[in-house]
Amino acid sequence: MKKILALILCAVMVFAFAGCASYRSYDEIKEDGKLVVATNAAFAPYEFVDDNGEYAGIDIEIAQAVGEYLGLEVVIQDINFDAIITSVNSGKADLGIAGMTVTAERLKSVEFSDTYATGKQVIITASDSGIKGVADLAGKKVGVQTGTTGDIYASDDDTIGEVVQYTTGTEAVLALSQNKVDAVIIDNEPAKKYIEKYDNLIIIDEEYTYEEYAMCFAKGNTELVAKVNEALAALKADGTLKAIIDKYINEK
Ligand code: ARG
Repeated sequence: MKKILALILCAVMVFAFAGCASYRSYDEIKEDGKLVVATNAAFAPYEFVDDNGEYAGIDIEIAQAVGEYLGLEVVIQDINFDAIITSVNSGKADLGIAGMTVTAERLKSVEFSDTYATGKQVIITASDSGIKGVADLAGKKVGVQTGTTGDIYASDDDTIGEVVQYTTGTEAVLALSQNKVDAVIIDNEPAKKYIEKYDNLIIIDEEYTYEEYAMCFAKGNTELVAKVNEALAALKADGTLKAIIDKYINEK
């Protein structure tokens, strides 16, 4: 008995160290009838809470369309962006959709679906800051959302004076409006939304990076990835995906 216990303990430890993901099988999800989707709903136009207190945005509608295709009810789990990967790898959520950029580093810990949108990082700053491009960030204080690609690029750039992390992009841009930081590095479409309510903030027209957005899944959950990719392909083919994106971006 002791031996068995030791063996079990050992196996548990090996899994823990290997960072082995736990997740619900597609059969379990089907049986439950619910697809649990993690997001960070402070990132319009991809995900936000609308005036009626409902989740809305490109990612939310894509998740709902995928759910509909698979015959599953989507349950949104609104959490911090940097908790999404842990959430899918612990099985708390079945997938994450949050304007998340596919990166080589993230691919080590999660699976990604096919990409459904593209983006880029841009700089937001005050119109009179004198910042005209990436080179002008040298020695400056730059605000970012924790765990995002903007955070990663800024933290990797040794010329930047200080990188200040905020839980949401909304908070980073608020800090910028209060002169607590000199600039914010964030995704282009959300940047446009964030500056809408501030007269003195501008977006610098210099492409920082090109990025592709995809849904993330627990490492090894290739069965669900395949199902979701099948749904995505159908939504691409019948124009649903384009209609969702146009509704929030192109046809403003
Ligand atoms: N595209 C960036 C990334 O993957 C930012 C995404 C932030 N998304 C959000 N819902 N807050 O890191």
